Amino acid sequence: MDKWNADLYKEKHAFVFEYGNSLIDDWLQPGPGETILDLGCGTGELTAQLAATGAQVTGIDASEAMIISARAHFPQVSFEVGDATSFSLPLQFDAIFSNAALHWVREKEKAIARMYAQLKKGGRLVIEMGGKGNVDSILTTLERVMQEKGYTYEPFWYFPSPGEYTTLLEHAGFKIDRVHFFDRPTKLVDPETGISDWLQMFGHHFFAGVPEKDSQAILQQVQQELAPAATKDGSLYADYVRLRVSAVKI
Ligand code: BEZ
Repeated sequence: MDKWNADLYKEKHAFVFEYGNSLIDDWLQPGPGETILDLGCGTGELTAQLAATGAQVTGIDASEAMIISARAHFPQVSFEVGDATSFSLPLQFDAIFSNAALHWVREKEKAIARMYAQLKKGGRLVIEMGGKGNVDSILTTLERVMQEKGYTYEPFWYFPSPGEYTTLLEHAGFKIDRVHFFDRPTKLVDPETGISDWLQMFGHHFFAGVPEKDSQAILQQVQQELAPAATKDGSLYADYVRLRVSAVKI
């Protein structure tokens, strides 16, 4: 089932695409007329920015709700529903761009094989995803609080180290061009509820089978426990770790 709420995503989690600007300007450096695939495009803001550079852009996302929102807001851009592990498009692209999407793809080898197949020889892959240690304080606190309340916490996302992901890319036939692995504390919109909001937006899978009353109690406790250490100058931050990679299909 598609559980994404595109409006809530844009209202309280716009940092997901706002941070993507430097990945476009400094890393991808799109050229006019280039064909670019935006893999995991969400509500399409970065896809539209890519299109505004004169590139010929297609955005794909596994969530139909996200694609409906993207098409409504950016009717001039081409968007398709597609899963990173199985998508197939008629075109081979000059570049594939992906921001904050690939940590959702646990069958990473399949996604890498699809990206490789959809690039032209010499084509560029420019990605940013959560890296090893991403949101660790949120996840370790969630795990402990769930266990205290008698629930099992199942890890979900794939946050690789630079060595792990670049090795997978090299095995698939990519040549690694540039890697950056860095902490990026990420300001949440609401200092009172930001961590709980974040988990409700992105972590609904953790609460499958947990009654609403208990999931709300877990969320509140995680928020309260983390807030003192995660607050700076009145703002609340999530402990994001980013992995950026640029690679070329050889
Ligand atoms: C991230 O961008 O690091 C992220 C976003 C949502 C869920 C998990 C990770």
